[in-house]
Amino acid sequence: MAGLPGTTDRRIDALLTLLAENSTIVVSGAKIAKEIGVTRQQVWRWIEQLRQLGVRVKGHPRTGYHIERVPDILVPQMLSHRLYGTPFARRIFHFFKVDSTNSVAMQLGESGEAHGAVVLAEEQTAGRGRAGRSWASEKSAGIYCSILLRPPVPPAHAPLLTLVAGLAARDAAAEDLDALPDIRWPNDLLVGGRKFCGILTEMHAEPDRIHHAVVGIGINVNQPKMPADLAAIATSLRIETGKAHSRFELLIRLLQYFDRYYNQFLADGALPVLRRFAQVSSYYEGKRVRITTATEVFTGITAGLEPSGVLRVARDDGRGIEAVLSGDVAEAS
Ligand code: BTN
Repeated sequence: MAGLPGTTDRRIDALLTLLAENSTIVVSGAKIAKEIGVTRQQVWRWIEQLRQLGVRVKGHPRTGYHIERVPDILVPQMLSHRLYGTPFARRIFHFFKVDSTNSVAMQLGESGEAHGAVVLAEEQTAGRGRAGRSWASEKSAGIYCSILLRPPVPPAHAPLLTLVAGLAARDAAAEDLDALPDIRWPNDLLVGGRKFCGILTEMHAEPDRIHHAVVGIGINVNQPKMPADLAAIATSLRIETGKAHSRFELLIRLLQYFDRYYNQFLADGALPVLRRFAQVSSYYEGKRVRITTATEVFTGITAGLEPSGVLRVARDDGRGIEAVLSGDVAEAS
């Protein structure tokens, strides 16, 4: 859709869209070539490339092509149709492989790209998590999505953007799960106590205004199993439900919910976001937790959120209520 080195050629996007929209019929190579403005040989080369990516296309240049099953690829053109009316429909950057969608979105922010640009990848080679950790980003198994925002709010409100993203991801994923997902402040989504979604918010700000912020969302969707070192603490929607899920539909819901929560936040302030968090997160209040910050580790009981989205914890050591700006939160026994 948008031109940026390394992004998926928009004519491959058009080819996939054409095949998917005509999934019940055989489309001739000549017709495809004419519609997307390339030679028949190029169509054939791209079909071969798509086959190598696991897209099941039947047929050959003489008979025409026919997609066997609409592939679950996050094709910008199709996404854009479905996201009409949101700021995300206009600029969608798709990569088959990239280091980190957050890094690309931050660069786009630096170079003046508009609010609402979305960066997607089928695979990340250097997916980043919070606190310098990495994010396992296996090819086409998860959603790796970064949203560029230019929020008209002061940097002190940035934690609320993270909560907005967490709520959107939670509502979107709930429709794919039998059990209700939980949110571990600030934004880990858990099901059955294991994490299936993480959010990394990064920003470039001046003291009184956010220049741009990037909310990066990683959702484990169709991983049949998690890497051995993560299996005890991480899961995927597929592991939880025993079936595959459409990343495409989940991503649409995620961006639609994000749009709704974000607009509500801008219109009505933090209160609706905090109220919703209180409804859906068992970590909001009364949970025994162990907090690890850059400077200390302590235990306590959660006691709601500050208006800025910061977590309040009543410390076990009698030192009163601590406002936790950032840190790792774990359930404590
Ligand atoms: C965490 O829980 O530690 C946050 C994980 C965030 C992962 C996502 S995947 C898309 C985006 N690109 C990245 O490099 N990271 C975020």
